[in-house]
Parts: sequence; structure tokens; C-alpha cells
Amino acid sequence: GQREMAEEHGGRRWRLVLTASPLQGHMTPMLHLATFLHSKGFSITIAHSELNRPDPSNHPGLTFLPLHDNISATLDFANAIQFLQTLNDNCRPHFQEHLVQIINAQKDSSDKETIVIIYDNLMYFAGTVAGDLGLPSIVLRTSGSSIFPAIKIIPQLHQEGRFPVQDCMLQEIVTELDPLRYKDLPFYGLPIKQTLETINMIMPKTPPSAYLWNTLEFLEPSALTQIRDHYQVPVFTVGPLHKIIPTPSSTSFLEEDTSCISWLDKQAPKSVLYVSLGSIANMDEKVSTEMAWGLANSNQPFLWVVRPGSVKGFEWIEFLPEGLVSEMKARGLIVKWAPQKEVLAHSAVGGFWSHCGWNSTLESMFEGVPMLCQPFDLDQKVTTRYLSYVWKMGVEIVVERGEIEGAIRRVLVGKEGEEMKQRAMEIQEKVKDAISHGGSSQNSLKKLVEFILSL
Ligand code: UDX
Repeated sequence: GQREMAEEHGGRRWRLVLTASPLQGHMTPMLHLATFLHSKGFSITIAHSELNRPDPSNHPGLTFLPLHDNISATLDFANAIQFLQTLNDNCRPHFQEHLVQIINAQKDSSDKETIVIIYDNLMYFAGTVAGDLGLPSIVLRTSGSSIFPAIKIIPQLHQEGRFPVQDCMLQEIVTELDPLRYKDLPFYGLPIKQTLETINMIMPKTPPSAYLWNTLEFLEPSALTQIRDHYQVPVFTVGPLHKIIPTPSSTSFLEEDTSCISWLDKQAPKSVLYVSLGSIANMDEKVSTEMAWGLANSNQPFLWVVRPGSVKGFEWIEFLPEGLVSEMKARGLIVKWAPQKEVLAHSAVGGFWSHCGWNSTLESMFEGVPMLCQPFDLDQKVTTRYLSYVWKMGVEIVVERGEIEGAIRRVLVGKEGEEMKQRAMEIQEKVKDAISHGGSSQNSLKKLVEFILSL
């Protein structure tokens, strides 16, 4: 605990202020990191927006600081740039005031704490405030690291006339990013001005003291080398954070429908396809209906998460044609939100149809489950390319009539699926090694603790 840590370090104490982003795929790893650092004896404050606030009663021992975000319910989540800017502009003053108060109170007191800011890279205001107040800061990146070179090179590609990408180039390899193709680059379809603005916004202005990346050394060696060369500060690979230490309870913003576990209990081993496209992706009716036809025509049992509001213009699954609903119910289960990690760990699950968000990817790897990849944007296309072409534990799918059922059967019952399963299990073994005693992620965490103690 804190007392032991202080005794060991001549009375010195540390307060880590972790600034979390209100997105599910970002909040979960931050809370896992908080739980880990707390277990090592650090005092922890979680600064967070009022939007999608974590439940403090689920995390005893941590202090929570809700920042006044003034985010109106009508702010369009899909307009990422405006959303990020408003979030950062609005959270900053309260965050700064809070820190100034602590610093001032400590001036006249013998009871001092070393303050270190650890922030999600989307909450870049925390880095600016840390810089202004002269506090050390560490950035947590919750995505894979291969997205970094892909984002970094975009301004250069733009200058050379290679971005925005022309249709005839989509399938070509970007030489500097081999094996990524032009079609795997992020921000496809976004106006170039907004693309460059976004990149500028998320690349830190004040260099942090270190980076934490929720990835593993063996997965993305080349990207990690580039990151280390670029930043010249320590980069700790601490993934998969969800397996480092259990959080006391669920970190989901939405209620998990646990009835799907007893449904899975009744299915044959490795027969079920689990389908979930994460917490952000929105689809139109046409794509969702094609997904439903593919699932129905595959003749495989399935568990499909349709997040309420994720199909544009519908509250939930009203877009499904009447006849299809009864056909689907005969073979599958549709839920609003699932306990995903438990689902992927279930012996009945044989494949995961995913948007390839980074958390979903790590969770699937850890359970050795092969994937069908339907990326939307950001890091998801890069991850899809790695899953299918480098790690070879996934197939990229095209959501069109007649295409999906074949892909589902290839993964769940075909020889190709057998090979992917084999690969997924090999990767699972390596991930387990990395988080066990002496493994790369364990070592990284140990070095991280030493690094913080040296600040
Ligand atoms: C976002 C981006 O889309 C992703 O590309 C980026 O890497 C992280 O931020 P999101 O789309 O939510 O995240 O996807 P993902 O990273 O996969 O995170 C989703 C989380 O929600 C996972 O931890 C998953 O276990 C959880 N989940 C999802 C559930 O608990 N239940 C569900 O039904 C669906």
C-alpha cells in the first residue's frame, strides 16, 4: 500500500492523476492501468468527463475527479474533430484549477506528494496543463502502435500528391508502410483540411516524459522502433492491460446482458460466431440488413450484439424484415450489449466478426479466437491488414449479399479456419508468455513503476 511505498522511499509519496477519455475503448484500459498502479502503492486520481463517467463504487481506493465538460447531449459524437475540441477546451480550466489548488496547498505543508499526469492521448489538454505547471506527464495510447507511422506520414503523402488517395491506388502498397495499402490508411473520405487538423490536434505539442502503449513487443516491432526513434523518450509496452490485473468489476458504460452466457452453454464447442462492432461504429440500414442475411444464410449459430442506436434511424433491430427475424431467432441470439471478454473466453465461440477495434483485437487474441474483419476507420483498417496478412488469424470481409456466408463458413468450419485457429492459438501463447513473470509486458510494467519513482 501507500504507507509501505512511502516508508521505502524516505517518506516520499506520489499522486498519479490519470486523465481518461469518455470512449469505452479508451476508458477500460485506463481503469485497468489505474488498478495496476494502485496495487503498486501509488495514490490515484481519475480525472474524467461528466459524459460517460465511470462508477466510483466499482473502484474502491481510487479518487474520482469529474471535470465540468459542458458537453451538450446534442453534440454530434460522429463529428470527431468538433467533439474532441469541445471536450478538451471545456475540461481544461477545471483540471488546471484543481492541480493549482493541490500545488498551492502543498507549498505550506510538510505533507508533499509528487504529482505525475498520465493522460489518454485524446485528452491532450492534460499534457498542455502539465507542461504549463511544470509537472511530468506520460501518455497512454490505447490503440495498436502500427497506426502511428500511418498517421505520421499523411502530411508528407499529402505534399507529394499521394493523399487523399486516388481510387486507382487503393490496392497498392504504401512503400514506406509495407504491408499497408493505400486503402488501409486512416481518414479515408474525410476532407483533407479536417484530416490535417485532426493529426495536428492529437500529436502532442509538449513532449511527454514517456509513452505507454497497450500493445505487445512481439506484435508490432517495426512500428515500435519507429516510435522510439521519433520520440526519443521511454516507450513502455504494457498490453494487454485487461489481462495484467483484474478490475474489481465491469467497466462497461452499457448494461451487459449476461443471459447470452447460458445460451452459449447450450451450443456445441467452437460452433458459434460472435458478432460485435464495438462502442462507436454506426451503420446504415442496408449494411445491417446484409449482415443479418449473411448470418441467417451461414447456417451457423451466432450471438449478435446490436448496440441500441447503432443502426441509423432505428432504436434497435426494427430494421430487420419480419420473415428474417424468426429465421434468425431459430439459430441465433441478438443482444444489446454483451459481457464480451466472457463471451470470447467461452468454449462454444469459434469465431469473432469484429470491426477490429484494438481492445476487441487484444481480447480475441488472448482467447485464441480467429476473426472476420469489418473495419470502419481509424486504426481498424490498419489492424485488419495486420490480422489478415501478418498475424494471419483473420479474414477481411466484404459486406455484400452472397459474400458473407462463405466467409463465415471458411472461418468456422473450413480448412482455412482451422489454420487461422492454429495461428490464433500460437499468438495466444505468446501473449500469455508476455504477461507472465519475466515476460516483455511484465518487464515493461516493472520499468514503468521504476520510471515513475524516478520522477
Ligand atoms: C475505439 C475505436 O473504434 C478503436 O478502433 C480504438 O482502437 C479504440 O477506441 P471501440 O470502437 O469501442 O473503440 O472498439 P474496441 O477498442 O474494440 O472496444 C470495445 C470494448 O467494448 C471492448 O473492450 C469490448 O470488450 C467491449 N464490448 C463491446 C463489450 O463489453 N460488450 C459488447 O457487446 C461490445
